[in-house]
Amino acid sequence: MRTKLVLYSFIIFLLTSFLLSCGDSYDQYTEDLNNNDEETLTEDHNGFQLLETSCFSCHNPDANASAVTAPNMAEVKRVYLAQHESEEDFVDAITSFLSDPSKEKAIMKDAVENFGVMPNMSFGKAMSEAVGRYLYSSTIQDSGWYANSYALEKAKNLKDPSEMSYLDRGFQFAMSTKSVLGKNLKGKINTEGTDGALEFCNLNAFHLTDSMATEFGVKIKRVSDKNRNPNNLANNDELAIIQSFKEQLEKGEEITSTTKEMDNVVIGYYPILTNDMCLQCHGTSKEIKPSTAELIKQKYPNDKGIGYGVNQLRGIWVVEMQK
Ligand code: HEC
Ligand code: HEC
Repeated sequence: MRTKLVLYSFIIFLLTSFLLSCGDSYDQYTEDLNNNDEETLTEDHNGFQLLETSCFSCHNPDANASAVTAPNMAEVKRVYLAQHESEEDFVDAITSFLSDPSKEKAIMKDAVENFGVMPNMSFGKAMSEAVGRYLYSSTIQDSGWYANSYALEKAKNLKDPSEMSYLDRGFQFAMSTKSVLGKNLKGKINTEGTDGALEFCNLNAFHLTDSMATEFGVKIKRVSDKNRNPNNLANNDELAIIQSFKEQLEKGEEITSTTKEMDNVVIGYYPILTNDMCLQCHGTSKEIKPSTAELIKQKYPNDKGIGYGVNQLRGIWVVEMQK
């Protein structure tokens, strides 16, 4: 129970203190890699836990909440259920959208209009299905669910991070960071436009000084082979991972996240894929407004983070966890 609380406090920490400070505090890894572990993300996914860590930051779990960065989850379920009555169809539809969120696939056209397309959460098939099945079977669409069931569901479903594999644990950290980051970025674009959002602080400056970081010793960064910020250039180990992720993507395979074990830490690596939304700052001159392009050039004279299309590997999450 105590560590569950620690998990909540980690998530709440991310929600409340995101982007308070800038600067890169992450150490480079020069140590020898000794063990490339072949774990895969567990098959046994808990739909509620995935929603809690990766989705509810944008899709409010309260059916009565108004849409701020995205429609609430009850609304999403209602719309999907209206078009996909059977569990199988419903789960397929959710899985299909999550595998490649795009304007064309989206059925909530008003939401796309108001908030832009949802970022790709890099959820594989098994995870998307777990989320779909949970959504289908729960009564999250009822106005009383949040008040009556949400806390119970948390108590029942949230796993203690120390019971998870390093690969799953790192994924959870990366996704909860990503969902908060995405929420903030989208919010800023909505209120101030792309140029305003660009000025919005250094995106990966997370100083995890809360109890979670202390207890699990977690550090998170994003790196790329085509980096915008000079601090985000991938080192040789990371470049090798990026290369292998790109090969999997080219072959149309599901990207296999991976971990590497060092003496005192385990490092998890997870893909960061582009979608429509990213192109207004990472696409070509067709998608990037001239004023935005100008600002990027001023701020990042050596920017390499452009020229992307949708569903390409923009970089990776690197999550360092103390053993
Ligand atoms: C960074 C914010 C953000 C996060 C995190 C997020 N979403 Fe979304 N999502 C959106 C926005 C904005 C929309 C509305 C635009 C659209 O339909 O793409 C949306 C729409 C959707 C839709 C409806 C798509 C349609 O057909 O129009 C589904 C289903 C969905 N999200 C599921 C999820 C699930 C499951 C997760 C967690 C794995 C998740 N979302 C995480 C922002 C987010
Ligand atoms: C409003 C403009 C904007 C949008 C939209 C945007 N980015 Fe970025 N992105 C930036 C800026 C600016 C940086 C450099 C941040 C820094 O200084 O650390 C960056 C950095 C990154 C990095 C770190 C590596 C690097 O090149 O420095 C990744 C990875 C990344 N973005 C992925 C994405 C993805 C994926 C999306 C879409 C879901 C996205 N970005 C949308 C502006 C944007």
